[in-house]
Amino acid sequence: METLAVSLGEKSYNIYIKEGILADLAAYSGVADKWFILTDENLDRLYGTALAAALEGLPYAKFVLPPGETSKSFHMVETIIDAMLAAGLTRHSAIIAFGGGVVGDLAGFCASIYMRGIRYLQIPTTLLAQVDSSVGGKTGINVSQGKNMAGTFYQPQVVLIDTGLLATLPQREFTAGLGEVIKYGLIYDYQLLQSIKNNFVRFYNLDFAALNSLIRQCCQIKASIVGQDETERDLRKILNFGHTIGHAIETLTHYQRYLHGEAVLIGMHYESLLAKKMNLISEAYSQEIADLIGRTNISADLTDFSLTSLVEQMRTDKKNQDGILSFILPTGLGRVTEYTLTPQQTLALLSR
Ligand code: GLY
Repeated sequence: METLAVSLGEKSYNIYIKEGILADLAAYSGVADKWFILTDENLDRLYGTALAAALEGLPYAKFVLPPGETSKSFHMVETIIDAMLAAGLTRHSAIIAFGGGVVGDLAGFCASIYMRGIRYLQIPTTLLAQVDSSVGGKTGINVSQGKNMAGTFYQPQVVLIDTGLLATLPQREFTAGLGEVIKYGLIYDYQLLQSIKNNFVRFYNLDFAALNSLIRQCCQIKASIVGQDETERDLRKILNFGHTIGHAIETLTHYQRYLHGEAVLIGMHYESLLAKKMNLISEAYSQEIADLIGRTNISADLTDFSLTSLVEQMRTDKKNQDGILSFILPTGLGRVTEYTLTPQQTLALLSR
């Protein structure tokens, strides 16, 4: 088993990575008067019995969500909070987030506001959640104006990563997770990027040795970044590479057309092209990025969008200030820097 620490003073916690760790859940669940499992319908069908067995003898209630990003709404938060009250949860209870980014973000948000805050555990079930969203305490829900516009920074008490759960992950979800994996290589570690290229087929073939190592490396990067900048004042912003364009296309398509990681792949492709047009990276590196993203078979095509509405949507991004758009752009091998562009400059560069 791999154990990593997220060092945040009193809010520090561990990430445990092991195939099959779900069965040991009771050993990591801490002390609570009741646990509240939040999961979705697909996962409940696949793992409801295994979860029940893992919690046997402990008092718990369960809430099952419809799958998909549209569950990340104020309406759903209200429904969940009502269910938590009806289940008799107290300040000494804890939520178990068993799912991907949607479940994790919602569970964290509900935990942060229920009776002014209760504990929660993350058991991420998708590759994307295992390498990114379950670590670092970002919680959030979407509103019509944009993604994650309401949320909190609220750290879990533990993250349990059971890589065995990836065996039932649909290939499309797996590709979406690889989007965030590739992001780590591009923002922080060019050697990791090379290793992703070399092991690409092993990942898709669910070679668990390769996957465990990959997930550990990604979580190590995430833990290090979050440990230095929990609330995204500075360094943590680099994790937003691909997200300025990515969030805009997710919002414009009402969260129905792309998975988050797919939108990030498309966002990274176009934000790398912006960097090339601004002469921040070489033609060769730009091509290397495009080739790797291309290997996921994502259709990186913005032609369905009016560039004006895309840029208009980017203006609502919470990373912006004074109407100026914030982009994290590649500036070298495994390196990125924040740049700001006016909407007009962005439109001109995207149109070229
Ligand atoms: N997913 C980006 C972050 O946690 O900051």
